[in-house]
Amino acid sequence: MPRSTSLWQQTTALLTTSPLQKHSRADVCVIGAGIAGLTTAYQLAREGRSVVVIDAVAVGGGQTSLTTAHLSNEIDDSYEEILRLHGPDGARLACDSHRAAIDRIEAICGLENLACAFERVDGYLFLGKGAKEKDLDRELEAARAAGAQVDKLQAAPVQGFSSGVCLRFRNQAQFHPMKYLQGMAKAFQRLGGQIYTGTKAISVESGQPAVVRTADHIAIEAGAAVIATNSPFNDLVTIHTKQAPYHTYAIGFRAAPDAIGHALYWDTEDPYHYIRLQRTTNRELGGDNDEAVDILIVGGEDHKAGQAKDADRRFERLAAWTRERFPAARDEEFRWSGQVMETVDGLGFIGRNPLDAGNVYIATGDSGMGMTHGTIAGILITDLIMGRSNPWTDLYDPGRVRSGAAVEWVKENLNVALQYASWLTPGEVSSIDQIAPNTGAVVVEHGRKVAVFKDERGEVHKRSAVCPHLGCIVAWNPAASSWDCPCHGSRFDKFGAVFNGPSPGDLERVS
Ligand SMILES: Cc1cc2nc3c(=O)[nH]c(=O)nc-3n(C[C@H](O)[C@H](O)[C@H](O)COP(=O)(O)OP(=O)(O)OC[C@H]3O[C@@H](n4cnc5c(N)ncnc54)[C@H](O)[C@@H]3O)c2cc1C
Ligand code: FES
Repeated sequence: MPRSTSLWQQTTALLTTSPLQKHSRADVCVIGAGIAGLTTAYQLAREGRSVVVIDAVAVGGGQTSLTTAHLSNEIDDSYEEILRLHGPDGARLACDSHRAAIDRIEAICGLENLACAFERVDGYLFLGKGAKEKDLDRELEAARAAGAQVDKLQAAPVQGFSSGVCLRFRNQAQFHPMKYLQGMAKAFQRLGGQIYTGTKAISVESGQPAVVRTADHIAIEAGAAVIATNSPFNDLVTIHTKQAPYHTYAIGFRAAPDAIGHALYWDTEDPYHYIRLQRTTNRELGGDNDEAVDILIVGGEDHKAGQAKDADRRFERLAAWTRERFPAARDEEFRWSGQVMETVDGLGFIGRNPLDAGNVYIATGDSGMGMTHGTIAGILITDLIMGRSNPWTDLYDPGRVRSGAAVEWVKENLNVALQYASWLTPGEVSSIDQIAPNTGAVVVEHGRKVAVFKDERGEVHKRSAVCPHLGCIVAWNPAASSWDCPCHGSRFDKFGAVFNGPSPGDLERVS
């Protein structure tokens, strides 16, 4: 049986610190200790700013521990699309910014001596089902116009995989994201930065000072606040109409060392497959020797969050797809899944929060590129707080509207509107008896939709199925044992406690 954790969660413990005890003051308060929040905090600490980081869970307790950690400047929505939406200057800046993010990660690894397996590799974009060579030609032209280091090959020059015709993106990279994050957290603390885990922010007031209030009734006053919670919880509507939550799946297969070339691989399908290798050892995987093992990590099968119930079938399809193309894939070691926020115009929202006074910043809209988007946030938000100009400010401005994205905006918001129809549908099961232990389902009780989780002892835990954000009905996610909202991606643990997204609170208790 594969483990239902990510490879990184297996090999690295989550870093926790003591909770914040009292009223606190700092130059900057950063909320969220994933890659976006910690990179921003670290960069600001290097500039001599006093920074407090709080996280509801732990360092890397969010999506950063679930990533597959491709570090790439091939934009996942394609350069063709970025060129159409943001024009030639925008596409060039997008390419530059993701390249600079990879360079910055490499520089931080060197500066802080981080043992996180940072490795420069090439990336190969190959044809997916139904795609034609001319699709690659168009992407080649667009990527070159944006300044990417890219060429076309008849096949990727790697062992263990026959890519067929493909584009090669030079000088991409990969790393162990949790070792990187832990190393950066320790470097941040050495610079005087403070991290408090188990500390949940519930509100942010802009103004001088900005005030962050926590669930434990602590107020943190700061010159600036940065909300790096993956999806901003302080913004009720604006940002959440411009991005949509997608769930994505990953499998880690054992492979003999070097049987498959270390590189990044993606295909052109929608949703696309993303593949890479991570070198580890038997011991790190729980064995008793230090023999090297490659884990082949394959991801894909994305769907709109909260709108599919067939996680097992998706994992099976992903496994079959992999075995057809990578004969060196052996046993499955890991199966995991997570959520990404896809913006309507393909780039993250990073900068001043549109509805606040100037000193509240957000980093969201990570797409499948949250490692580089998170690092861009660290560079860009630091510049904004330090009062420096940055060429990427307008490109990532959270207040931007791109006319070319109107169709996508309508499509995603129509999809949200349709979700309200679930108020009128029957429950997923007609009685609680039909729910298997360790799973959940929505049932109708006295005309109300109730999210029911049955634990392994058969004890039943009930919460209202109505999302406290804007009232959509949540759905059980069997892959992550969570309740996921199909509208704007709020997520709740099996007992109804919110851990991601715009919901201002937990699912309501029902008697
Ligand atoms: C399966 C999968 C594969 C992926 N592959 C790639 C890839 O190959 N390359 C890539 O670049 N990206 C990839 N991504 C995306 C990437 O993992 C994410 O975009 C990135 O980790 C997001 O980082 P973050 O810092 O924004 O958010 P997170 O890592 O989620 O951090 C947010 C933090 O905020 C905390 N928090 C939330 N609410 C509160 C609150 N109210 N108060 C205090 N703290 C709070 C959380 O506990 C969490 O620790 C992938 C994602 C998934 C799920
Ligand atoms: S996240 Fe918006 S209604 Fe649930």
